[in-house]
Amino acid sequence: MKKLYIETYGCQMNFSDSEIVAAIMTENNFETTSNIKESDVVFINTCSIRDNAEKRVMGRLKEMQSLRKQNPQLIIGVIGCMAERLKTQLLEEEKLGMRIDMVVGPDAYRDLPQLMIDVESGQKACNIILSKEETYADITPVKYSGNNVSAFISIMRGCENFCSYCVVPLTRGKERSRNPLTIISEARELFEKGYREITLLGQNVNSYNWDNGDVNFSKLLQEVAGISPLLRVRFATSHPKDISDELINVIASYNNICNAIHLPVQSGSTDVLRRMNRKYNREDYLERIQKIKSTISNCALSTDIIAGFCGETEEDHKETLSLMKEVGFDFAFMFKYSERPGTPAATKYKDDVPEKIKGRRLQEIIDLQQQLSLESNQNNIGKTFEVLVEGYSRKSKKQVSGRNSQNKVVVFEDKGYKPGDYVNVMITSCTAATLIGEGHSSNS
Ligand code: SAH
Ligand code: SF4
Ligand code: F3S
Repeated sequence: MKKLYIETYGCQMNFSDSEIVAAIMTENNFETTSNIKESDVVFINTCSIRDNAEKRVMGRLKEMQSLRKQNPQLIIGVIGCMAERLKTQLLEEEKLGMRIDMVVGPDAYRDLPQLMIDVESGQKACNIILSKEETYADITPVKYSGNNVSAFISIMRGCENFCSYCVVPLTRGKERSRNPLTIISEARELFEKGYREITLLGQNVNSYNWDNGDVNFSKLLQEVAGISPLLRVRFATSHPKDISDELINVIASYNNICNAIHLPVQSGSTDVLRRMNRKYNREDYLERIQKIKSTISNCALSTDIIAGFCGETEEDHKETLSLMKEVGFDFAFMFKYSERPGTPAATKYKDDVPEKIKGRRLQEIIDLQQQLSLESNQNNIGKTFEVLVEGYSRKSKKQVSGRNSQNKVVVFEDKGYKPGDYVNVMITSCTAATLIGEGHSSNS
């Protein structure tokens, strides 16, 4: 058997795709390895979301070239979003100053075995055709890494929201939902294997739609949550423009649907949101947050924020800061705007916020979030949470680490707990990133 090493960048969907790729390859004479040095084939599953994401991958690909000294037959393939965006440019050896043997876009993974045959016969291979239907619904992902407690399931692919800054509609194509029966059976199998947490994935899970509305996201979520009360269910990402009352009520009414919603706001300024084509304004967003807070008790809220989008004024930036405070986000991913070729923003607007100002605004956003996260964690001191144990803590084997329903990392002394146990933990102290506590009883 030949050995395949996969390295994954970008969003959770990409990690989930790598498991599909592993499944397809292991059906075709390959086994996965975690040691790149012994591999016959290296796939790098790539992300195009920001320029620095692409630069990182390019740097890594350059580094990987030296592996050919040991193994001249080594095959290096670029898969995922950069394959889709840069296409055959990635095969131009001289321009690139390195050799890439294959380029495969996110909807073409079923073609990998055939493309491997071409490459092994000395040709370069490329398939970047996007599909309107492909969901890999029938393929059982091969979980070649991970903690055996929590798993991700892709429920849809693509995105057609065309937020003006975003490259995803270009790299992932049309939005399509996966057959719910295959989602539920995959979740059930994982539960039977001992997994205790499933995250349902899509670029905008709220618009999950099977059979013309026969199954919407709220219904799917209830079906998955119905598998067992011991199975926690999470989901990402929700788009603020269509997070419905129905969905908020479903989250509130199931104990095992986690009280954590990731709701990317991007900006607190209505003007900026309009140019971003987000289809909601500041007030709409805050109204949805109010609805969540008044319906779901103790629901963690997290978000994504872009600093320095085209035309962003100091006033707009202040509105982002004030919105962050008003919501009191528990956690955020924060980025500097990075212009992506071919996106609506790159065509229509000037990337006119100077780098230095972008950097300063981002830092202000990060500093504020640090403070909000710390406050949120401090408010948890003295409270008891049910924590799902994932494994030893990163720092010490005397401690275990897991998450509470709010998706916060909780670290506590190991009293013989196993991954997959639910433990009631009283929080005694914290940092901005972690809750620290004492385990009381194991109830699984
Ligand atoms: N589908 C999800 C997010 C996908 S990308 C959603 O709609 O929320 C993850 C995050 O990357 C986005 O939420 C956004 O904050 C950020 N992002 C996307 N394009 C970007 C760009 N061109 N520059 C900077 N950040 C960007
Ligand atoms: Fe990009 Fe917007 Fe789609 Fe998210 S919803 S993937 S930000 S286009
Ligand atoms: Fe990146 Fe593609 Fe995901 S661009 S964020 S890997 S969908």
